[in-house]
Amino acid sequence: MRGSQDEAPSLRGVMGAYPTGVTIVAARDEGGEPFGLTVNSFTSVSLDPPLVLVCISHASTSHDRLLATEDFAVSLLAGDQEAIAWRFAQEPSEGRFDDARWTSAPSGAPVLEDALAWLDCRMHEVLDGGDHSIVVGRVVEATATDRPALLFHRGRLTSTGP
Ligand SMILES: Cc1cc2nc3c(=O)[nH]c(=O)nc-3n(C[C@H](O)[C@H](O)[C@H](O)COP(=O)(O)O)c2cc1C
Repeated sequence: MRGSQDEAPSLRGVMGAYPTGVTIVAARDEGGEPFGLTVNSFTSVSLDPPLVLVCISHASTSHDRLLATEDFAVSLLAGDQEAIAWRFAQEPSEGRFDDARWTSAPSGAPVLEDALAWLDCRMHEVLDGGDHSIVVGRVVEATATDRPALLFHRGRLTSTGP
């Protein structure tokens, strides 16, 4: 990979320059316990059928648990949910929901209250994505508000509005 000044920027460094929203991808394990992690590799794939994807690291403790579920939810974080974004990105994963205000989507998958929006997804397909798995979900329910969104850019979280 070459930059304009002949430097060799890492892919991580280049992608850090690209602003994204921030989500919490969450599901329930076989015992019904909620688990989830912070994810910015979220994007829409198809409108008909309605498909979205997230990329989940093989190194993540959520990886195998998520691939074992039939349903998961994606909460799009609002501008004032920075603390939740960091909390769901830090180990250990146990207890992440303890201080969070959350409820269940129709499938039973956990969604964060006060989120900007959430999508209730049925597992559609899992594709090879190198050291990540590309998890494609079919959206079965969705809700949105007009609240400001949380943004991730160059390692920092900011809000799109007051
Ligand atoms: C803003 C932000 C975005 C992230 N996006 C992703 C992502 O798209 N995929 C991923 O696997 N990890 C992502 N992470 C890292 C995970 O949230 C982090 O490794 C987490 O501790 C994994 O939890 P787990 O091991 O309990 O699954 C992101 C972290 C942050 C702070």
